[in-house]
Amino acid sequence: MLERLNDLPGDKILALMEMYREDPRDQKIDLGVGVYKNPEGVTPIMRAIKTAEKQLWEQETTKAYTGLAGDPAFADAMIGLVLGDAVARDQVAAVATPGGTGAVRQAFELAHMANPDVRVFVSAPTWPNHVSILKYLKLPVVEYRYFDSESGSVDVNGMLEDLAQAKPGDLVLLHGCCHNPTGANLTMTDWKAVVDVLKKTGATPMVDIAYQGFGDGLDADAAGVRMVASELPELLIAASCSKNFGVYRERTGLLMAVSQDSARQKTHQGNLAYLNRQNYSFPPDHGARLVTMVLNDPELRADWMAELEDVRLNMLSLREQLAQELQRLSGSDRFGFVAQHRGMFSRLGLSPETVDCLREEHGVYMVGDSRINIAGLNKNTVPLLAKAIIEVGA
Ligand code: LMR
Repeated sequence: MLERLNDLPGDKILALMEMYREDPRDQKIDLGVGVYKNPEGVTPIMRAIKTAEKQLWEQETTKAYTGLAGDPAFADAMIGLVLGDAVARDQVAAVATPGGTGAVRQAFELAHMANPDVRVFVSAPTWPNHVSILKYLKLPVVEYRYFDSESGSVDVNGMLEDLAQAKPGDLVLLHGCCHNPTGANLTMTDWKAVVDVLKKTGATPMVDIAYQGFGDGLDADAAGVRMVASELPELLIAASCSKNFGVYRERTGLLMAVSQDSARQKTHQGNLAYLNRQNYSFPPDHGARLVTMVLNDPELRADWMAELEDVRLNMLSLREQLAQELQRLSGSDRFGFVAQHRGMFSRLGLSPETVDCLREEHGVYMVGDSRINIAGLNKNTVPLLAKAIIEVGA
């Protein structure tokens, strides 16, 4: 039977990681996969996580199963972090998942369970794995306009026009903040306009929030999703702890189903737990437990917030340095959007040939659509990248 399997094209982001690893040049620069690196090029374990890990080692007395939804304390803490007081706790059903990707996958499956004819609206472009998972699940994908590559900003009118085509029973996937791959984000005025269109269509929104705290701050980055939660009848949220807690390999995420009608919560909770049981039974616990400890201990939480803020400010400063250097070398504001974008990524708007040339001739690794991971830079490599971009005639 297995001889019937065919070779599959590899995930582009992961393939790039591999190519970078194999490149023997010293001068290479990795701007590929979305992993934070400090100015020394290291992806650190955050201080508060390390402390929590020590405490956990001392205090943990069992590795027996938690529950299908994971530890309820994790859900409570994360619901507070993402939703603040936008909705009451009894309006939210939630399960822990293996990372944000696990939550995304479960959200799509839940939507499909609720409506076998669901169509999923995604931004053009979106994180390639969104589309890959949807194709794998055989769910129809409808793209809505999002990024205007001329200006490097959001095409809000195009987006609203396309979203108006959604119907009740459709799922509309939005990025909570720090849009991946473009870095171009909705303003609060744009979020309001999106909410109004969605209200008219009756479609169900889903927010993927994987970079809370990397853009404008923990609360500012969640303001959009909180508005959707408080104004629309229902909402799915896939939240990741990989980046903002730096627990990538622990696979820590939460899927939330929010409803204005708290009488629905029990049914939603049951469906989410059922999905966990079918797919992997109990979700991973270690990362979730560390995150819960950090969020619930005032000292650890304050330390985590301070470190996260340093991470955010480091990326903002790299954005400004790169935009300035490109301005200086090119004599134009063409790349000014890099300083306006938020989060880890910016899409530079370079052709695939230019991206290849940057990799082959300058050892600069970025995703084929010219997405760069800002955190892959430091103050020494910013000028090298800017020079390479100008040299290849971008
Ligand atoms: C990315 O977009 O680089 C990250 O979300 C990591 C991944 O799994 O692709």
